[in-house]
Amino acid sequence: MVGRMATVSGWVETVRAHKNVAFVMLRDGTGVVQAVVGRKDVSAETWERAATLAQEACVLLAGTIRADPRSPGGFEMGVSGIDVAGASDDYPLQPKEHGVEFLLDHRHLWLRSSRQRAGLRVRAEVEQAIHDFLYENEFVRVDTPILTGAIGESAGALFETDYFGQRAFLAQTGQLYVECACPAFRKVYCFGPTFRAEKSKTRRHLTEFWMVEPEVAFADSDENMDLQEAFVSYVVRRALERCEKELATLERDTTALEAVVPPFPRISYSEAVERLVAEGHPFDWGADLGAPEERRVSSWFGKPVFVHDYPKSAKAFYMKENPADPRTVLCNDLLAPEGYGEIVGGSQREDDHGRLLARIREGDLPEEAYGWYLDLRKFGTFPHSGFGLGLERTVGWITGRPHIRELVPFPRTINRLAP
Ligand code: 4AD
Ligand code: MG
Repeated sequence: MVGRMATVSGWVETVRAHKNVAFVMLRDGTGVVQAVVGRKDVSAETWERAATLAQEACVLLAGTIRADPRSPGGFEMGVSGIDVAGASDDYPLQPKEHGVEFLLDHRHLWLRSSRQRAGLRVRAEVEQAIHDFLYENEFVRVDTPILTGAIGESAGALFETDYFGQRAFLAQTGQLYVECACPAFRKVYCFGPTFRAEKSKTRRHLTEFWMVEPEVAFADSDENMDLQEAFVSYVVRRALERCEKELATLERDTTALEAVVPPFPRISYSEAVERLVAEGHPFDWGADLGAPEERRVSSWFGKPVFVHDYPKSAKAFYMKENPADPRTVLCNDLLAPEGYGEIVGGSQREDDHGRLLARIREGDLPEEAYGWYLDLRKFGTFPHSGFGLGLERTVGWITGRPHIRELVPFPRTINRLAP
């Protein structure tokens, strides 16, 4: 384009107006270009417009493209005309430090800033990589309902709504439904928003988050972990390959990400607890690992680590009992390194009708809502396994951001429903 006329439409990031020249940084959604307005090169009216352009005004700039090594990216526009399509008086987000609550209140505008753009672009790449990996590996995408009568994970964290006189919940998971699609397609997945009415106010909890849930007929728990490590490694590699600029904007040290290749270390829950205790970190066998324990366990390895075979009491009703130690179930969490904690939860599913029914009753779950799920164990039951990967936690780790609320366009947390 050097030497040629062009028009660029976009939003003004900054204007620096000197006596005889003004520099406008214009963002068009694909990148940012420096536009230079020379006082003697334009009409008095255009000069006046340039000097008074406001942050985030929407403008159309016309001018000639030229190469200039001093310009970011090596090119700039010598402006000849300016059209203001949308003014922007008193833009609330100034180029200075704002408190995070203020930024979240202005999330609809905050999205435009460079770090937020970088994080959300990585998210989009990770979503695409997820679909690509699963498609290339012959998984069939099955969309599962968001309104459901069956409790997917646990009775404690449900958003409930009245459904024409019936109790309905926002889905905590699509898993029970993708399981049903296994006999139809063998390898399946769902990917969508899931909901947890968790009162946890931590940097890794949202009340609405996105989860991808693959499910594979005839896979056991070990094969389930094989799939997870291949999947996570692929996704990380894609982000490294295609989001180099974004990761640089976020100042992400990518050395730890480069090490994410199969195999991942695997340690049983019981071994992990033993080692925690031996290191002087008291922990009672039987409880789920909390964030501090997860951090410590992952600090033993420089890679994502599988912790497998948790106590039955700490996990959901649908997991298959471990024949080698019936106090435990055939399941795993995948802990991301660098303190990011659990990004994946997976398990082999209970495929025996009687045992599954007993677990539903033990868990005080509404038995009548699971008739269809139990049918799977009545009509051609089969061994199968699957897992759920939390998108925001995964992108939080890949981008190295401290709080996952920045990795979803409009976060939902216990005290935030707007914007
Ligand atoms: O371990 P979870 O609860 O597993 C399931 O929902 C299974 N049904 C998945 C399956 O086997 N198909 O959740 C899976 C992942 C977690 O590892 C975490 O990454 C993410 O979902 N997650 C959350 N992310 C953000 N905010 C929350 N409140 C989350 N709860 C779970
Ligand atoms: Mg879990």
